[in-house]
Amino acid sequence: MTDIPVSSATVRGAPFSSPEFDVASRSANRILAIANQKGGVGKTTTAINLATALAATGRRVMLFDLDPQGNASTGLGIDRNAAESGSYEVLIGGAPIATATAPTAVPGLVVVPASVDLSGAELELVDIERREFQLKEAFNSLNDIYDYVLIDCPPALGLLTLNALVAADGVLVPLQCEYLALEGLSQLVRTVERVHNAFNDRLAVQGIVLTMFDSRNNLSNLVADDVRSYFGDVVYESVIPRNVRVSEAPSHGKPVLLYDFGCSGSQAYVHLAGEFLRREEGDSS
Ligand SMILES: Nc1ncnc2c1ncn2[C@@H]1O[C@H](COP(=O)(O)OP(=O)(O)O)[C@@H](O)[C@H]1O
Ligand SMILES: [Mg+2]
Repeated sequence: MTDIPVSSATVRGAPFSSPEFDVASRSANRILAIANQKGGVGKTTTAINLATALAATGRRVMLFDLDPQGNASTGLGIDRNAAESGSYEVLIGGAPIATATAPTAVPGLVVVPASVDLSGAELELVDIERREFQLKEAFNSLNDIYDYVLIDCPPALGLLTLNALVAADGVLVPLQCEYLALEGLSQLVRTVERVHNAFNDRLAVQGIVLTMFDSRNNLSNLVADDVRSYFGDVVYESVIPRNVRVSEAPSHGKPVLLYDFGCSGSQAYVHLAGEFLRREEGDSS
């Protein structure tokens, strides 16, 4: 497919060619930002269900909801208005993370819900000293309690997402196979590169996951082929299909893995989690 306006030089460039991309230096808490500045591409769905699948393997997982819309919180059955403390208090108010976690129905998975006040945080951050480092500094008190911390980012490349990228070890990018997907992706990659160079030299793209894939749609297939030819192994083999059960689950306050374990969407997320762990923890030795 040739009509996607993207420069191959940009998307093929660093950080993919840099040594950081090899999963070599692993801290005890691995912190992954789930980011894509486009809305509706499956960030929150991937955050909830990857977190659930990882917790199901016995890993201790925290999902940090950094999107003011709070879909990760409500999708896990958390009443945001009832939560006394959440991601806003941690990010802006200096609240210890331990006071902001809420249990979920998934054993081993806790969530830091998006407080209602988070919608003002993007603007408040502007006037704060070291505004890019607020989340990173808050995570200093994590004390290796969790194996994985997944940050569900808002659909923008503003200060909230920047805080996530500065705090993270890696970025997981959900990508919907549609027109202009690659253009948005190259912008995200440039941002990751800039954050890597300016603030956080641990940061690399951990993986790209194709979401809401419709095999009967020709464009889906063409874009998927294109993404794979640019990014190679960075793209997960697991592909999340478009599946109505996945879209129904949040209204029941449940990960699709609890709502309907047997459906194709759940099985795809189980598969993704396995691939994720092999990539993270390595089976090459
Ligand atoms: N695999 C899927 N099949 C069907 N619907 C999906 C799938 N993944 C996500 N959705 C739905 O698409 C919408 C956007 O997904 P979401 O994860 O909220 O995206 P984002 O967080 O990037 O904005 C939601 O309504 C969600 O339920
Ligand atoms: Mg979302």
